[in-house]
Amino acid sequence: MERAYNFNAGPSALPLEVLKRAQDELVNFKQTGMSVMELSHRSKEYDEVHTQAQSMLKELLQIPNDYEVLFLQGGASLQFAQIPMNLLKEGKIGNYVLTGSWSEKALKEARLIGETFIGASTKEQGYRSIPNVEEISINKNDAYLHVTSNNTIYGTQWHQFPEFENTSLIADMSSDILCRPIQVENFSMIYAGAQKNLGPSGVTVVILKKQLIENSRQDIPSILRYSTHADANSLYNTPPTFAIYMLAKVLEWVKEQGGVQTVEKRNIEKAKLIYDAIDESNDFYCGHAEKDSRSLMNITFNLPSEELNKKFLAEAKAAGFVGLNGHRSVGGCRASTYNAVPVEACEALRKFMITFRNNH
Ligand SMILES: Cc1ncc(COP(=O)(O)O)c(C=O)c1O
Repeated sequence: MERAYNFNAGPSALPLEVLKRAQDELVNFKQTGMSVMELSHRSKEYDEVHTQAQSMLKELLQIPNDYEVLFLQGGASLQFAQIPMNLLKEGKIGNYVLTGSWSEKALKEARLIGETFIGASTKEQGYRSIPNVEEISINKNDAYLHVTSNNTIYGTQWHQFPEFENTSLIADMSSDILCRPIQVENFSMIYAGAQKNLGPSGVTVVILKKQLIENSRQDIPSILRYSTHADANSLYNTPPTFAIYMLAKVLEWVKEQGGVQTVEKRNIEKAKLIYDAIDESNDFYCGHAEKDSRSLMNITFNLPSEELNKKFLAEAKAAGFVGLNGHRSVGGCRASTYNAVPVEACEALRKFMITFRNNH
């Protein structure tokens, strides 16, 4: 069977090479006579996988030594709660920039824990853009400033991050981690559910400054404390071993591609194919995001009527394109062009969009 043109928003496409390598090793991992899923998480063989995933991530993102790399569970959604539980102490404020549904969800959880503040929001404009960094308000007792680097549902992405002295910047990078180089040292914490650019669902990567862990609350349950997981090298409880193994394989693949810079170049090329089809369509396709806030990862658009949206999605599905429906909360169309989506899939979609437009 041929591979689908997979534009799913997450879980999403994985590199074919990675899937094949995992298949080759599935029943007998490195001559152990066992699948990696059957190994003890305390075994030497699993330890190598765990360490490799950590060191590859450090290498690819150039993570400085004063950061911990944790592998947690519960998705990015658990981080929405875990961040304020650990960091929002009495008298401190959790400052949130609202750029879409995921940042709203993060704020909602923090409100249950402590004092919050909305430093900026583009909700009134329908989340079509990212605020200018000059528009963000901060407070002197902010525990942190939280941003969502890429808004999976609305198709917007930060292209310049705020830099405030003495403010801990935290970013939910679930849908764009590793799509481009970033300066990790400008963030106190970065977190991402793996199921878009990093691997299958089941593991959440949390990169955080050691100092942030030292200053975090200790009067919360052990499993929720960042210090517990840092002290135990993310082996406090049984980690999602297969997901971490796949993460290591995906990271190896990114390195083979030439690293994050090369991957970014290809992502720009891929997104351009589709954005050009939108921009050259004489408003037949209407992009949701303002141009300067467009996402490299999630391309959101609408056709002139609901009827045409439906027809487009139905014909695309019949032509072998998967996952082009917009998120159920906003409708329309969305093409998610994560790292593992090949250029050919984007070329095929571009052609399909042009042909569909000519026929209607
Ligand atoms: C930006 C962003 N944050 C958070 C989430 C929620 O992630 P999870 O399902 O891993 O909790 C998603 C899921 O799509 C997302 O795109």
